[in-house]
Amino acid sequence: MTTGDLPKVLELELLGYSHPWTEGVFRDCFKENYRLWSMVQGEVLRGYAVVNYMVDEAHLLNICVHPCLRGQGAGRKLLRHVLSTSVKEGMVQMLLEVRDTNEAATALYVSEGFEEIGRRPGYYPAAAGREDARVMAYRFT
Ligand SMILES: CC(C)(COP(=O)(O)OP(=O)(O)OC[C@H]1O[C@@H](n2cnc3c(N)ncnc32)[C@H](O)[C@@H]1OP(=O)(O)O)[C@@H](O)C(=O)NCCC(=O)NCCS
Repeated sequence: MTTGDLPKVLELELLGYSHPWTEGVFRDCFKENYRLWSMVQGEVLRGYAVVNYMVDEAHLLNICVHPCLRGQGAGRKLLRHVLSTSVKEGMVQMLLEVRDTNEAATALYVSEGFEEIGRRPGYYPAAAGREDARVMAYRFT
């Protein structure tokens, strides 16, 4: 992903989340210890992912696929790309948080080998109050 992709990324972000990231949050990720990936077909942005490397841990901060393209394997392909890049770059595990009610994402992570290792109560803002996060991990070794 480049900063030039941000207008399209932000459009998709608004479609993907009840509480989307702002442009400022994305811009703050254009740093050495982050990896930002765009998945494109022709000129069309199909999805994107943002990962933060902390020493030897990769933290998947955002993964999103265009609503019209979901259920066709794009999310799995993007996740596998992020996993394989992280292991090649020396990470020993990938961590992520996912909303308790996000069944599609949770099913994707479990099917790729992530395990729930904890919960963060009230981690996410929700329509009514707050919602818990599952913390999930994938160990490369
Ligand atoms: C999560 C997300 C990236 C998945 O992308 P996708 O392209 O639809 O996923 P895929 O087509 O590769 O599906 C992979 C697996 O995810 C699971 N899955 C996908 N959609 C699902 C749904 N609606 N219900 C239940 N499981 C689902 C299934 O296990 C599926 O495997 P299968 O096709 O063999 O059954 C997509 O739903 C998305 O962008 N959601 C909005 C943003 C978001 O919530 N991101 C995650 C933040 S933690």
